[in-house]
Amino acid sequence: MKSRLIEALCGVAMCLTVVTCGTQGGETKGEGTMNIERQPFGTTPAGAEVELYTLVNANGLRARIMTYGGIVVSLETPDRDGKLADVTLGYDTLQEYIRDNPYFGSVVGRYGNRIGKARFTLDGVEYVLAANDGENHLHGGLRGFDKVVWRAEPVERDDAVGVKLHYVSKDGEEGYPGTLTCTLTYLLTNNDELRIEYEAETDKPTPVNLTHHSYFNLAGQGTGDILGHELMINADRFTPVDASLIPTGELRSVEDTPMDFRTAKPIGRDIGQDDEQLRLGKGYDHNWVLNDADGSLALAARAFEPTTGRVMEVYTTEPGIQFYSGNFLDGSNVGKGGKVYEHRYGFCLETQHFPDSPNKPNFPSVILRPGDRYTSTTMYKFVTE
Ligand code: GLA
Repeated sequence: MKSRLIEALCGVAMCLTVVTCGTQGGETKGEGTMNIERQPFGTTPAGAEVELYTLVNANGLRARIMTYGGIVVSLETPDRDGKLADVTLGYDTLQEYIRDNPYFGSVVGRYGNRIGKARFTLDGVEYVLAANDGENHLHGGLRGFDKVVWRAEPVERDDAVGVKLHYVSKDGEEGYPGTLTCTLTYLLTNNDELRIEYEAETDKPTPVNLTHHSYFNLAGQGTGDILGHELMINADRFTPVDASLIPTGELRSVEDTPMDFRTAKPIGRDIGQDDEQLRLGKGYDHNWVLNDADGSLALAARAFEPTTGRVMEVYTTEPGIQFYSGNFLDGSNVGKGGKVYEHRYGFCLETQHFPDSPNKPNFPSVILRPGDRYTSTTMYKFVTE
């Protein structure tokens, strides 16, 4: 497919239009036009200007991504009748994201999920991290990658439009060793995938575990709870947690437990069971150990929403996935269009290495060393049935 990039100044908004010329040879499903648009989205209290990128693929799917926190602000996908709805939770304005964001749509880093007692020892040196979840470190600390402004540039590929984000995390930031240079590329493909490619390099050994924290509701954001979604997770085992949600180190079979999603079942089917792990997580808030994780992009999970027919498949190169059933949502977040996000109105599928890996020698290593390159890819693919 041929394409060309036109850059023009439209009032205050910078519009980058990628025009796709023809779709011969069945290269793509859509006959429409891919588009990238860039516009101002406000200013942080520190005076940094934030931009919003709007990506549209050839089938009309639309993703809006901002440079603050690399946040996916909205994601519109069709139902079985072709009707678009926004399937992610979030806010209408930058100020609301800055005020109180439980990681809606965010990039999470330098370390997704918890590190126990906010410390770890690497090459004989103990590092103390910011404690922001009781005595533990959660999602990169007090000012994680979800709260920084990324530098952005538009990306155009034959079958996708996207935005490439850059952030340099300083040596010592939130307690981590080493300067970490990160690049993250969001691509909205003509196969209806939101593809996220992460890359990072460091100048000192450091743990790295980047993920994405969209809260999904495939019936449309703010329309109800997610308990009727049918979920499959391709995992025979999960990592049970202690009372502060730190993995015990065990890889436990899901067999005969509410954690068994090997065959799709409604999220609500077993969530109310009297089960120790569900009690500790206040629902599902656990890491599953993905089957056959060999570093290639493989199917990790699949969610189906029966009333709209929307299906989301999650593919990843990562060995784990955190399934969080929105247990901390309690109606105190008023989101896009004034929708009130009540208990379990969204769920997250966060691809990752396992929580607390820096303190768990039996878990796959998360240590990146100088000269090596961290790479990770996750894809959320939308279809209907
Ligand atoms: C992750 C954690 C949860 C919670 C959510 C955000 O899923 O495991 O405990 O912090 O993020 O609220």
